[in-house]
Amino acid sequence: RPHLLSMQQLTNEQIFHLFQLADQMKNNLYLPVERQTFAANVFLEPSTRTKMSFQVAETRLGLETMNLDGESSSFTKGESLYDTLKTLESIGVEVAVVRQSEVGLLDQCKDLNLSLINAGDGCGEHPTQSLLDLYTIHEHFQHFEGLHVAIAGDLKHSRVARSNAHALRKLGAEVSFVTKPEWQDPTLTDRYITMDEAVHECDVLMLLRIQHERHTDSGEELGYLENYGLTKEREAMMHPNAIILHPAPVNRGVEIDSDLVESPKSRIFRQMTNGVTIRMAIIEALLKGEL
Ligand code: CP
Repeated sequence: RPHLLSMQQLTNEQIFHLFQLADQMKNNLYLPVERQTFAANVFLEPSTRTKMSFQVAETRLGLETMNLDGESSSFTKGESLYDTLKTLESIGVEVAVVRQSEVGLLDQCKDLNLSLINAGDGCGEHPTQSLLDLYTIHEHFQHFEGLHVAIAGDLKHSRVARSNAHALRKLGAEVSFVTKPEWQDPTLTDRYITMDEAVHECDVLMLLRIQHERHTDSGEELGYLENYGLTKEREAMMHPNAIILHPAPVNRGVEIDSDLVESPKSRIFRQMTNGVTIRMAIIEALLKGEL
């Protein structure tokens, strides 16, 4: 069965095919899956948006959904992710959405006879977040070629930056990076711009959450907004047609001035709405063997 583990596996044609499916989902032009189909959401790291929007997406598609977490399952007895997913396969689950902390761990489970969706693997990738970000950008601009996207924040620990940088470049966008020296990531780039340069130049400002749970840098918030974040003064410098993205949860007043979270340029809550439709599209495409 097909999986969605990384943005690297998708061609541009497949990305645009998912957008077409998502448009159908958005406009309620789809038939729910009539055959009884089970989907499992296996979340071993915390989540609000991804987990809840997958549940909504599965329910809207007519799937039977179930949830497994790390605390109340046999993970507490030391059962591996492979054996857990093999169990789900054995009882008839056809789609498993998995969030866990080890980069690339799902690659070891690719031969199982159920479709796997990577819902975030530590600092690795977050392909469904990337697809909803891309869909939100495309919804606004209708193209990627020539767009300047600035990705700003905790690059080193960000699976969202990794998935998006790769896909955006492949789609023809110019991608720039803003961060403080400790969070630079040579796998993404060796060239950085300042936040002041980013707000003057970019069409899309993609802010990232400081990943407090993945490092012990306790002093990072002091002066962060003024030095590296989106203040009201900087927002006023942005192009009139530019938009602001953030995968959320947002550290209000740290990556972005709290008042800007729901400002006219912000697409932060639109991203969440689009997360349901793009996840419906992903599940539909996987069930039809299209990815
Ligand atoms: N953006 C995102 O992945 O949010 P959650 O961690 O709440 O799922």
